[in-house]
Amino acid sequence: MTAAVALSSASLDGATKLASVPQDARREEAAITLAGVGKTYAARDGAAEVSALHDIHLAVPRGRILGVIGPSGAGKSTLIRLVNGLERPTRGRIALFGRDVTALDESGWRRERRRIGMIFQHFNLLSSRTAFDNIALPLEIAGVSRGEIETRVTKLLELVGLTDKRLRYPAELSGGQKQRVGIARALATEPAILLCDEATSALDPDTTRSILQLLKRINRELGVTILLITHEIPVIKEICDEVAVIEDGRIIEAGPVFDVLTRPAHATTARFVEGVTSVELPAHLRAALRSEPFPASLAVLRIGFAGPHAATPVISRLSTTLGLDINILAGRIDAIGEQPFGSLIVAAPGDIASLGATLAALHVLGLRVEQLGFIAAPPAMPARSPCEEVSDVA
Ligand SMILES: Nc1ncnc2c1ncn2[C@@H]1O[C@H](COP(=O)(O)OP(=O)(O)O)[C@@H](O)[C@H]1O
Ligand SMILES: [Mg+2]
Repeated sequence: MTAAVALSSASLDGATKLASVPQDARREEAAITLAGVGKTYAARDGAAEVSALHDIHLAVPRGRILGVIGPSGAGKSTLIRLVNGLERPTRGRIALFGRDVTALDESGWRRERRRIGMIFQHFNLLSSRTAFDNIALPLEIAGVSRGEIETRVTKLLELVGLTDKRLRYPAELSGGQKQRVGIARALATEPAILLCDEATSALDPDTTRSILQLLKRINRELGVTILLITHEIPVIKEICDEVAVIEDGRIIEAGPVFDVLTRPAHATTARFVEGVTSVELPAHLRAALRSEPFPASLAVLRIGFAGPHAATPVISRLSTTLGLDINILAGRIDAIGEQPFGSLIVAAPGDIASLGATLAALHVLGLRVEQLGFIAAPPAMPARSPCEEVSDVA
C-alpha cells in the first residue's frame, strides 16, 4: 500500500490537512475531493494487472448531488470503493471535508465510515432480520443503547415511508421497499455523505423515480452530500446537480448537469444523452430525406433549445418576423431542475434565400441548428412563399 508511506508522525489519528488539493476546492471545503487519483489492481493468479482509474480529479461540493456516469467496466465501483476506504488508491490523494484520508489505517477508516452511508444495487439486506433490525444493525455495532435505537429506527422507518413494514423480513418486501430499508440503514449513523452504487439499477422505472425522489429529499432536508454512480442518464437528469462522465478509468467530461446534458462536448457523452434529450425524425420522413435541395423542397433542421430560449415560442416568432412558414415535424421539450431544454425538428422553405435567413435568425438567438437534409413538401404542408400569410405554426 504505497499511500501509507505518506502518513506523517504528526497525523497518527490518520487525518491531516490536505496539501495537494486545489485552493478553491479547499476554501469551499468540498465534501469529497479526489486529486490525481489512480488505482491499479495488482496481477493475481495469472490474471494481468488492471489499471482501473487514471488521474481522477473530482470535487463533490458539500450538500450537493454529484452523479458519475459511465459504461460497465469504466471504473465507477472502484471510484466509490476508494471514497469509503474499501480500496486504497495507488496514486493521488483523497479528502473528506478537507481532511486527507488517503493514508488512514483500518481503524481510522472504521471511524471515518460512520460519516459515510452506502447503498447498493442489490440492497445487501440480512434475510434473517426484519426491516427494523436491518436498520438497527449499524447502531448495534456502534454500541447505541436499545432505547435510542428504538427512537432512531422508528424515525427512519417513517422517513422512508415503511412504518407499517417494521416487522417484515426482506423476502416479504418489494424491490423498492428493500431499497428503502437499505437507505434507512445507510442513514442510521447520521452520515454526512451517502454513496450510491447503481442503487436503482435493479428497479422498474416507477420505483426508480420514487427512490430518486426519496434521495433528493434526504439531500435537501438532511443536507446529506450524495455521490452516486449509474449507467443510466435519467438518474443523472432526475436528481443530480453535477455530473462526471467516466470512460476507461478517466473522467472525460464534468460540470453542471444542465450544461453537460444540453451541450455534451465528448462523443461518449453525446451518445449517453441522445436517448433523453434528442428527438429523431419519424421513419417515413427519414426515408424521404435527400442531401441536396430540389425545386420547392423543404429544409429539415434539428434545433436544440436550452435555457431561456426553450420557453419562448421561437418558431412562431421566427415565422412572423421572417414571414416564413416553418412547420414542426417532431419535438421534445423537457426540463432539468427548473431549466427547460429540448429539441425540435422543423421543416422550413429550402430555397437558398429563405434557408439563409432562417439559419441566420436561429444563430442570432443562440440556438444550435443541425441541417438534416431536404424533403418534398407534402400535400398537407405546401411550401409557401414569404408573401403568403402565416397561420398554422406552433
Ligand atoms: N478487485 C478487483 N481486482 C482486479 N480487477 C478489478 C477489481 N475490481 C474491479 N476490477 C477491474 O477494474 C475495472 C473497473 O471495474 P469497476 O470499477 O467495477 O467498473 P464499473 O463499476 O464501472 O463497472 C474493470 O476492468 C474490472 O474488471
Ligand atoms: Mg459497478
